[in-house]
Amino acid sequence: MGYVITIDGPAASGKSSVSRELSKKLGIPWVSTGAFYRGLAYVAQQMKTNLDNPIALSELCFSFFFKIAATTEKTQVWFDGQDVTEKIAHEDVGNIASRISHFPEVRQSLLDHQRNCALENSGLIAEGRDCGTVVFPRAEAKIYLTARSEDRASRRAQELGLDKDILERQQKQRDIQDSTRKVAPMQIPQDALVVDTSELNLEEVVQKAYQYAVPKINR
Ligand code: DC
Repeated sequence: MGYVITIDGPAASGKSSVSRELSKKLGIPWVSTGAFYRGLAYVAQQMKTNLDNPIALSELCFSFFFKIAATTEKTQVWFDGQDVTEKIAHEDVGNIASRISHFPEVRQSLLDHQRNCALENSGLIAEGRDCGTVVFPRAEAKIYLTARSEDRASRRAQELGLDKDILERQQKQRDIQDSTRKVAPMQIPQDALVVDTSELNLEEVVQKAYQYAVPKINR
């Protein structure tokens, strides 16, 4: 297994953009663990699986219908052989992902698959909510991104062409759900570098992450 850099944080804090740029700089892939929950949410919707049934949801994690692969550009998701990566970006899929992510059975079923992403490569960037605390607690470098909620909502509103106020309300709800659940809640890993991205542009955040991580992965 190679080295691991984790990037955790709330909805729309810039985790994917920072991971993508850092991954290019370091020449290693990155994985969005959120894509696993979003992918499962999407597949469950298509298969009309009961979203309140953790056993049925867990079984779907291992089904032939659901496939995920991490690359330097994005984490790709397939449903029944069809690339649905664009479809899982929708905010309603994110909301369902948050809802089903509180089931311990679901989290456990996705965990090995997430960890396996680190086995095949010399290094990996993993982003999500519990990457530094649960998925890769021994990661060489841990980063936690945060930003003011109105800034996070504006960013996502621009990306998705949606109303900022509605998004802000939904994101707040999702952040509460993700940080108060019993299993693997979103929290700042003990030894993480915390970066508030509200006043920073992408390049500045990537530079901070790079300067912090490189000495740690070269140790
Ligand atoms: O990062 P994201 O918006 O793509 O994540 C969607 C949801 O998936 C998030 O609201 C909660 C869940 N999630 C999780 O529980 N643990 C992770 N490591 C990543 C995402």
